[in-house]
Amino acid sequence: MSITSGLVEDDRVHRSVYTDPAIFELEMQHIFGATWIYVGHESQIPHDGDFITTSIARQPLLMVRDKGDVHLLYNRCPHKGAQVVPEGQGNARMFRCAYHGWIFQRDGAVRTIPLDDGYEGTCMSKGSPDASMTRVTNVASYRGFVFACLADEAPPFREWLRGVDSSIDNMADRSPEGELEVTGGVLRYMHRCNWKIFLENLNDLMHPMVTHMSSSGTARSVANRHFGKGEKLPAAIEILGPFTSNYEFFEDMGIQAFPGGHSYSGGTVSIHSRYSEIDAYNVAMNAAYGEARAREIFSMNRHNTIVYPSLTLKGPIQTIRVIKPIAVDRTLVESWTFRMKGAPDELLERSILYCNLINSSANLVGPDDHEAYQRIQTGLMADKVEWVNMQRHMGKEQPNADGGWSAMGTSDLVFRNQYRTWAAYMEKAA
Ligand code: FES
Ligand SMILES: [Fe+2]
Repeated sequence: MSITSGLVEDDRVHRSVYTDPAIFELEMQHIFGATWIYVGHESQIPHDGDFITTSIARQPLLMVRDKGDVHLLYNRCPHKGAQVVPEGQGNARMFRCAYHGWIFQRDGAVRTIPLDDGYEGTCMSKGSPDASMTRVTNVASYRGFVFACLADEAPPFREWLRGVDSSIDNMADRSPEGELEVTGGVLRYMHRCNWKIFLENLNDLMHPMVTHMSSSGTARSVANRHFGKGEKLPAAIEILGPFTSNYEFFEDMGIQAFPGGHSYSGGTVSIHSRYSEIDAYNVAMNAAYGEARAREIFSMNRHNTIVYPSLTLKGPIQTIRVIKPIAVDRTLVESWTFRMKGAPDELLERSILYCNLINSSANLVGPDDHEAYQRIQTGLMADKVEWVNMQRHMGKEQPNADGGWSAMGTSDLVFRNQYRTWAAYMEKAA
């Protein structure tokens, strides 16, 4: 029996899943170390020799393109353990460790060892695999989104992605060329909370109209004071205002949950569906797909999609957030912005504005959520109240067409589904 047995029930979870450092360490092994985790986008390394550093479960990794293929290497020198490539990105013919000068090819194979005759007959001799950088063998890409599984045996990738692959498709289809490109840098925002609190919040549709009253509510009152009915609003107000839509709006958005812990909220309507049209973008999409198909692509208007446990994406605004747990009460959230190939810059400008207003560490909306996350992390230290309730709209979910379940927007279905998955990963490891 493991220390996580009995901590998840159908309608509640024990507070220790958010607060116990020992459970956090097990999660790094049995969830982040055992299933598909997002590592980066192929557009970040378009040419041979391009590389980026990244990580899974705090383990340093190097994603590099060589002869067209994407390789993922542990960013650790086989000699004495030094990180071979310092954090960042670039292009290299080969990699040279800064400590004793061992040189590696772009696929990780060792090329040069100074005074290599000293290793003759040992596992560090040049032909030995132990002398090369170690490769992650389970790497899969879907429309440019690269995932890796550090375990020897990975779940079947496409089956694992089922239900939320359509969110990735829709995001890519919103490009007139069907391709996305990471653009600009990354926004990093350290959250003082457990990673699961952040993840739960994304499809918690009972909180926006309360938590975001100070930011979104203010944007609405500015709009009411300074703009007439029907008058075009500045883009920032268009983005901020819908966060304080009423309960009915969020209830009607609906939520969908899938095996694997995945989910999304919204369908044809979301907080993104009332943005102003961009004429040049419509022209490009109609030319690429024909008007009917272009309308069909735009009619899919999801809010947050969660590819459990590491990736969240927003197709209609072309951004992703990547979850990197650091400690039981620390989570790094990285926000990346995409350019839709073939689309006018106006669209990208809206994505960047959205990221600055909602996702950056100096934004207006995220600190509302962050305050709530910190209060949860603090409140859960009360050990006389052991359980966190997840009963809302329980039993009212219906099967959906993609092998999952659907419910009203304010249901706790998504949380119950995430913890069902969480418990399955942890029990499998026990
Ligand atoms: S640690 Fe890299 S060459 Fe020695
Ligand atoms: Fe929020």
